[in-house]
Amino acid sequence: MKTAVLASGRGSNLQALIDAWQSGSLPVNLVAVGSDQSEAQALKRAEAAGIPAKAFPLNAYPDQLAQEEDLLAWLHGNEVELLLLAGYMRVLKADFIQKAGFPILNIHPSLLPAFPGLHAQRQAVEYGVRYSGCTVHFVDEGLDSGPIILQEVVPVLPGDTEDSLAARILEVEHRLYPEAVRLLVGGKLERRGRQIWVKK
Ligand code: GRF
Repeated sequence: MKTAVLASGRGSNLQALIDAWQSGSLPVNLVAVGSDQSEAQALKRAEAAGIPAKAFPLNAYPDQLAQEEDLLAWLHGNEVELLLLAGYMRVLKADFIQKAGFPILNIHPSLLPAFPGLHAQRQAVEYGVRYSGCTVHFVDEGLDSGPIILQEVVPVLPGDTEDSLAARILEVEHRLYPEAVRLLVGGKLERRGRQIWVKK
């Protein structure tokens, strides 16, 4: 399955996907990495792995709709069949999602629907929850609101800061995202409305 990744920043989740792919434990073909940030470390990680990488900086377009039109044309040109958002810091427009024609997944560093949006780990620490975690979900037109594929709990420990919690969650993210992709590609996911069941 031809797969692309979109990332805006450091790209550690992208790296986890690349590592799994290179070790033969991710049954997809990573064909393209895109970013809205020309300087994203994610683009350098892609290049180092020999994956075509391209920036689509917003300021090169009249608006986000035009940027996403160009991005989608590039993905379609690469015959992408699956898109993984890995720290892509923009909410994709409804137009992009409707015209994509391939599934889009995202990973978020909280147990959704708690703490959607930016600074999920800070939100969790400030709220005082004892447990947070991460979620892999299908992308819909809302903010971190699509059907949930996998979640894993991570404890919030006394004295945790946003950074210490983020680091603990990130370790789990790096395992959970490849796992969700394996389930999807292996045909193990059954969708009933917004419920996703994992077949045994
Ligand atoms: C991760 O915490 C991810 O869950 C969130 O953004 C962060 C990206 O980190 N959506 P990285 O760029 O993959 O290191």
